[in-house]
Amino acid sequence: MLHNSVTPYNTPQEKKEQVAQMFDNIANRYDALNSVLSFGTHKSWRKKCVKKLQVIQPKTILDVATGTADFAIECAPLQPTKITGVDISEGMMKFGREKLEKLNLSKLITLENGNAETLSYADNSFDAIVVGFGVRNFQNLEKGLANLNRILKPGGKLVVLEFAYPTNFFVKGIYNFYLGVITPLIGKLFSKDNRAYSYLAESVKAFPNNNAFVEIMNKNNYKHTSYSPLFLGVAAIYEGSK
Ligand SMILES: C[S@@+](CC[C@H](N)C(=O)[O-])C[C@H]1O[C@@H](n2cnc3c(N)ncnc32)[C@H](O)[C@@H]1O
Repeated sequence: MLHNSVTPYNTPQEKKEQVAQMFDNIANRYDALNSVLSFGTHKSWRKKCVKKLQVIQPKTILDVATGTADFAIECAPLQPTKITGVDISEGMMKFGREKLEKLNLSKLITLENGNAETLSYADNSFDAIVVGFGVRNFQNLEKGLANLNRILKPGGKLVVLEFAYPTNFFVKGIYNFYLGVITPLIGKLFSKDNRAYSYLAESVKAFPNNNAFVEIMNKNNYKHTSYSPLFLGVAAIYEGSK
């Protein structure tokens, strides 16, 4: 699939290595830039995702592509017995672990190095799995989604938060300018990685969204799938159960 071949640095290295390298590079600025570039909305988006899990009252939660652990932290009010965050970037998780210490959440939430596509947890391990702005970066999207389905318990729920593409002509024009020009400019100035925020725009453009993503979930054995657009369609929440 085309989107799998969009990479941060266009080098011969595998996508997952380039992605891990890129997030290691920008880790110290990731949280701040997230807040600036999303005008603070990213927090409320994760909260909306967590609401969608309330109905199943999950006891075990896996936060895939946890980064600096924001999604895992947002899941704490669900009062699970355990939250595990996994990521391929040690640099991002270093900041996540510091945050967990400060919030006194290190016992409830633990972060481990792991790739969504090859996680070796036993079949049917988790009541809920969340992925925030992570699926777009998978080296092989379908392999990742299929593996997450394998480790989800029957009746368990997957909630994915990801950037999407607005359909309205005018909104699309503004979004294209913001994502293609403003974001890379601010990213370049503050993240010390010239490519990271250009890759963001390129990967969002190439990534399947809305119904196209739901179709891929269906193909990988998720049931009761749906999507809810956020903020004029610039992002979406995808849900599916096993
Ligand atoms: C944009 S950050 C999102 C972090 C966090 N989930 C959030 O909501 O802010 C994407 C994260 O996905 C991680 N990632 C990318 N591909 C991955 C994979 N195949 N398995 C696990 N983590 C991955 C990156 O290392 C990075 O930390």
